[in-house]
Amino acid sequence: MTDGTRSEILLRVNGLTHRLDVDNRRTLLDALREDTGRTGPKKGCDRGQCGACTVLLDDRRVVSCLTLAVAADGSDVTTVEGLAPDGELHPLQQAFVQLDGFQCGYCTPGQLCSAVAMLAEHAAGWPSAVTTDVSPERPAPELDAVEVRERLSGNLCRCGAYPSIVRAVLETAARAEVTG
Ligand code: FES
Ligand code: FES
Repeated sequence: MTDGTRSEILLRVNGLTHRLDVDNRRTLLDALREDTGRTGPKKGCDRGQCGACTVLLDDRRVVSCLTLAVAADGSDVTTVEGLAPDGELHPLQQAFVQLDGFQCGYCTPGQLCSAVAMLAEHAAGWPSAVTTDVSPERPAPELDAVEVRERLSGNLCRCGAYPSIVRAVLETAARAEVTG
């Protein structure tokens, strides 16, 4: 803590450690974009409504415009750049390219980070708001288009690429099942 209005924090962004001196009111989104140069996360609404700023914070998806940078002190942050650290596209990115999962691309970094976390949540057996059986002994919910739409409902796409985004996520999940 440097004084009452600023703090020194450590962020590991895509594996690189950054020591930052930030205003306590600075959002994680602004810290990522302006202080670490990670411009993958996009500022769409800046009020938690569009999902364009979604990143992974210790592997959980968050909207970085509603997360204070000081609250992320000591955490691992993964932005869309971190999904392809060596230039090899993540399977979801490959599916988005192959199946036209984007048009202008503005929402895409958030869609991808959200989808990575969503697939992990589903694999862990987490139910969604449209999962019919939420009893403790339930089988893992089947991942269909309705489930994907609900689980990604926090990520808006003004280009309306939703059908292709859902296809790309389902295709990625199916390929992961095949390859084990
Ligand atoms: S910019 Fe964060 S939710 Fe829209
Ligand atoms: S691809 Fe343009 S906003 Fe989604």
